[in-house]
Amino acid sequence: MPIARTRTAVYPGSFDPVTNGHLDVIERACRLFDRVIVAVAHNEQKAALLPIQERMRLIANVTSHLKAVEVATFDGLLVEFARNAGASTLVRGLRAVSDFEYEFQMAQMNRRLAPEIETIFLTPSEETSYLSSRLVKEIARRGGEISPFVPPPVAITLKAQFADRRKKPLPARQSGPRKLPRRK
Ligand code: PNS
Repeated sequence: MPIARTRTAVYPGSFDPVTNGHLDVIERACRLFDRVIVAVAHNEQKAALLPIQERMRLIANVTSHLKAVEVATFDGLLVEFARNAGASTLVRGLRAVSDFEYEFQMAQMNRRLAPEIETIFLTPSEETSYLSSRLVKEIARRGGEISPFVPPPVAITLKAQFADRRKKPLPARQSGPRKLPRRK
């Protein structure tokens, strides 16, 4: 009798916050793998809006209907995390040609570091192919409607984040017209 092997994939990213585009890729990955670990990266080079724990909470919340999904965080190299998790595959979403160069470079480097791990690219649905966490945050920051782009719990969290920020008064230096120093 053949031994059933668990096919595990890691879907890494910043997920700041998770969007409908990410969710679309996660759902597609769940059709291909028995176990999909959504891995939230610590990235000191990127200033995040949401703390890691909050990003993980939101991912767990919006993927609760997908039994194959686990949510984790990692700090070192992605391939090391994948190895330790017993994953054979890294999943990345590819939205447009503009994503390609960065994704290709990362996939080749990860292959060099861990030849036994493959990267596969999944294309999101047409309706979500233009979405990015960065644009969603920009719209939310300016008070725009983000509910078409993110799952409801994410929309609620982002709206609350930016509403809080808008309520806080600007520091005195910025609240009025700035006085220029007088010329002598
Ligand atoms: O959603 P993002 O920000 O495009 O995700 C990028 C991410 C987290 C997948 C990438 O930065 C990453 O893998 N970071 C972990 C550190 C690492 O392994 N770097 C080498 C990649 S070649």
